[in-house]
Amino acid sequence: MSERLIAPSILAANFNNLGADIEMINQSEADWIHFDVMDGVFVPNISFGIPVIEHVAKIAGKPLDVHLMIIDADKFIVPFIEAGASLLTVHYEACPHLHRTVWQIKDNGAKASVCLNPHTPVSLLENIIVDLDMVLLMSVNPGFGGQKFIQGTYDKVKKLKELIQEKNPECLIEVDGGVNFETGAELFKAGADVLVAGSFVFGSENPAKTIAGLKRV
Ligand code: DX5
Ligand code: ZN
Repeated sequence: MSERLIAPSILAANFNNLGADIEMINQSEADWIHFDVMDGVFVPNISFGIPVIEHVAKIAGKPLDVHLMIIDADKFIVPFIEAGASLLTVHYEACPHLHRTVWQIKDNGAKASVCLNPHTPVSLLENIIVDLDMVLLMSVNPGFGGQKFIQGTYDKVKKLKELIQEKNPECLIEVDGGVNFETGAELFKAGADVLVAGSFVFGSENPAKTIAGLKRV
């Protein structure tokens, strides 16, 4: 049985009044707050970085789940943890010395997660899965909110679940991109533990209700 955690992505929040959206998340049934950090190099977009996370950390009542879509992640691991990240995700495709990066995260007191782009096979995690607290599967190409869910993700979740059951049953599966009630239900069924949702939550009339709904799809 999956854990059924929900992590709203503040990429889709109202940056003119971010405090209000964080307060909504605090009061909601959300489990974590998801942050998409983009460098304009690894992904074709730039979002926000350490100062924003540092400020949100002061008012956030839930763990900060920080997704680094950046090259040279090693340089920024300690600053992001000091800013308040509880869980740091780095990309398989952007980390040439992944084992060292993962242990740098863990040795500095955060949980470590590795993200796979849609084209990257789960089998490449075979020799790192024992070291991970979570794997994040991208169900869209990273860089933008509001994209269409890639259907092949369900099979990836199932394959990853098998690998996890064999080698590290404690490891969580998070899925990011195009999550709504329909894709969310299928993802939980396939074995996902954590769903990230941006535009579906913040574009809805009642975001807190949508978060509660996602937990029960
Ligand atoms: C995509 C980001 C996602 C994004 C999801 O690059 O990693 O976290 O915020 O957005 P939606 O839920 O709108 O697809
Ligand atoms: Zn993300």
